[in-house]
Amino acid sequence: STAPRSGLSRRRLLTGSAAVLGAAGVGAAAASAASRPDHHSPTVPFFGTHQAGVATAPQAHAQFLALDLRPGLGADEAMALLRLWTTDAARLTAGTPALADTEPELAHAPARLTVTVGFGPTFFDRVGRADRRPASVTPLPPLRIDRLEPRWSGGDLLLRVGSDDPVTLAHAVRVLGKNVRTLATLRWSQRGFRHAVGTHPSGQTMRNLMGHLDGTVNPAPGPDLDGLVWHDGTAQPWFAGGTTMVVRRIRMLLDTWDELDPDARDLTMGRRQDNGAPLTGTSEHDEPDFTRTREGIPIIPANAHIARAHARTPAERFLRQAYNYDDPPPPGRTSEAGLIFVAYQRDVVEQFLPVQRRLAEADALNTWTTPIGSAVFAIPPGVRSDDEYLGQTLFE
Ligand code: HEM
Repeated sequence: STAPRSGLSRRRLLTGSAAVLGAAGVGAAAASAASRPDHHSPTVPFFGTHQAGVATAPQAHAQFLALDLRPGLGADEAMALLRLWTTDAARLTAGTPALADTEPELAHAPARLTVTVGFGPTFFDRVGRADRRPASVTPLPPLRIDRLEPRWSGGDLLLRVGSDDPVTLAHAVRVLGKNVRTLATLRWSQRGFRHAVGTHPSGQTMRNLMGHLDGTVNPAPGPDLDGLVWHDGTAQPWFAGGTTMVVRRIRMLLDTWDELDPDARDLTMGRRQDNGAPLTGTSEHDEPDFTRTREGIPIIPANAHIARAHARTPAERFLRQAYNYDDPPPPGRTSEAGLIFVAYQRDVVEQFLPVQRRLAEADALNTWTTPIGSAVFAIPPGVRSDDEYLGQTLFE
């Protein structure tokens, strides 16, 4: 019969270790599991001059969400929302459950969790601070390659949540979303991934779903990156320590890309798919030589992606951070994959736009890629102590 058996298991439970653990004990057990040497779960500091999640080495998983303030709401409600997000982000990124967290068990392994908040062009109008919008935080001009869909574009507010653990990430996104649901509604959400931790040597460039190493040419962390990315506060003092972010959802047409032979793929990119070397070099980090010819023909074609994208002035550089997406395809198609292309720079118009315009004009890659989403955000400076909230300087 089942009755005695369930009685037995109940007794076992009561005399077993679970019975001696109260609610606090369960939390402590989970925390110690996360800190055992084989379960070390690293954290990224939340407090600092800049928000984490920009210059942070990209986590394996990231979710990008755009939200809109609910109709009729303004600065007071925006400040309330930013206070809630600050409190939640400070706790979750440290591996501490949010206040009144209904799934505290999902918070104990942050796995380098970061939460980054941004303000879209419309946000400055909504909160009555139009005069404080950084000049380049405005939608990109129309580009002839664009097939933008409203469901992937724009937004008052941006959340970038990154973690090496997808469960931790899902929990953080859930907490941040539900705690502000009376103040803002979701406009779009995009989930992206890079290689899982431990599958590739750390520091190795990631591969996108076309097969190429993606992220080779990027400013080095330190003075180079700092000078290109962080705003110094001229023109907009409240924005010192902030940056701007471009998010482009770019579909890859993998079915037709598959039809290209390896040489054609390499000529399209200007680099070899196998090791990422420029066609004029032998290894990934060799400097490409765009002037070299063979029988009068440029070795790297003038319309190769890297030839068009390469900075032509020192100002035209920015930090790229690509994430792959691979979603269920619509009926009749075999793939719905691409890149969540993210760029950070002090100024979108001076640094990013000249490159984006050149690509829109004549990038060979355009045949196999289609931008379907686009958004630009100001990423306010970081929070230095727990009596400040994200974006506070905008309202002072
Ligand atoms: C370089 C892929 C879109 C800007 C590269 C490289 C690959 C790549 C494989 C060479 C390795 C590297 O340096 O990372 C792609 C794919 C795209 C895409 C698959 C779309 C699906 C864009 C966009 C921009 C951009 C939209 C900017 C508007 C750059 C820059 C470089 C580069 C600046 C470095 C060029 C150099 O100086 O050598 N991209 N990219 N890419 N890409 Fe893209």
